[in-house]
Amino acid sequence: MKIFAYSIREDEKPALKDWEQAHPDVEVAYTDELLTPETAALAKGADSVVVYQQLDYTKETLEALAAVGVTNLSLRNVGTDNIDFDAAKALHFNISNVPVYSPNAIAEHSMIQLSRLLRRTKPMDEKVARHDLRWAPTIGREMRMQTVGIIGTGHIGRVAINILKGFGAKVIAYDKYPNPELQKEGIYVDNIDDLYAQADAISLYVPGVPENYHLYNRESIAKMKDGVILVNVSRGNLMDIDAIIEGLDSGKISDFAMDVYEHEVGLFNEDWEGKPFPDPKIADLIARDNVLVTPHIAFYTTKAVSEMVHQSFDAAVSFAKGETPKIAVKY
Ligand SMILES: NC(=O)c1ccc[n+]([C@@H]2O[C@H](COP(=O)([O-])OP(=O)(O)OC[C@H]3O[C@@H](n4cnc5c(N)ncnc54)[C@H](O)[C@@H]3O)[C@@H](O)[C@H]2O)c1
Repeated sequence: MKIFAYSIREDEKPALKDWEQAHPDVEVAYTDELLTPETAALAKGADSVVVYQQLDYTKETLEALAAVGVTNLSLRNVGTDNIDFDAAKALHFNISNVPVYSPNAIAEHSMIQLSRLLRRTKPMDEKVARHDLRWAPTIGREMRMQTVGIIGTGHIGRVAINILKGFGAKVIAYDKYPNPELQKEGIYVDNIDDLYAQADAISLYVPGVPENYHLYNRESIAKMKDGVILVNVSRGNLMDIDAIIEGLDSGKISDFAMDVYEHEVGLFNEDWEGKPFPDPKIADLIARDNVLVTPHIAFYTTKAVSEMVHQSFDAAVSFAKGETPKIAVKY
């Protein structure tokens, strides 16, 4: 059996090596190039391909893969919105993704950012770096004194709740489909407006589907407590960034952490050192003492990367054997 993988990064190689050692019967070949109509021929002779890219899986790309005899496609990431499913269906592609790789990676990042905001580590670290070792005025706040609102209690939201319990914070939550275990604990509020009214800090763990578009907006922010802390590690389209900037300017929002941005493609995971940011809003946010911007790195841990590699390669093997892996995409 042969598997060909595209756009393998340096940080994925240790996990790939582990997987290869555990599967000596499978021949693995890979490239750091993206899957395009031109590079599809590299997979000739393979039973399945494994891919991770933001570039679209177009009709032309899928046709080029099928032309070299490959119709098993395993994504190492979650998102499938860049696949031309009509073309994939016509060409009888089997597709898998990795919907859950490490909820802890994302939940931990969000709660680390919330703790950093509370303890004002950004201005404090900057003071220490310029050798100013005075305490004032950089006084912190304690997690156990906060009521933290969690919107979305799926895989990631539930881990965030456990982390918050460890800190001793008061947790309230809202989900359209409440989790029965958490319901027994009585942490759910009846509606999202109750959460907005009670929470000192709010963190989102919902998908970026159209119905959740700009969940953080002028109207919802107006319903929140004065001086609320907002965290978004989920999806950029869940927040109206102009409404957030207005809230920061007026003081309605005291602190803000974001790991995602509606216009992050072409901006995040690029080196802008010595060059102006193409987006003045990001430059403005990064310059603020009370804002933490990270470039979509919540998922980026050794554990999560290893899960993405191992689960996608396992699925590629299943497809090659004519089986349907649990993580096959139903379309
Ligand atoms: N920054 C990163 O690196 C990163 C990595 C992975 C996932 N994410 C994002 O994290 C988010 C959560 O992922 P997950 O795996 O926990 O998802 P999940 O599907 O397990 O849980 C989502 C939950 O949100 C609830 N929900 C949906 N819309 C809602 C709404 N309007 N109000 C209240 N609840 C609502 C659902 O009922 C569900 O319980 C997703 O947006 C995902 O894209 C970010």
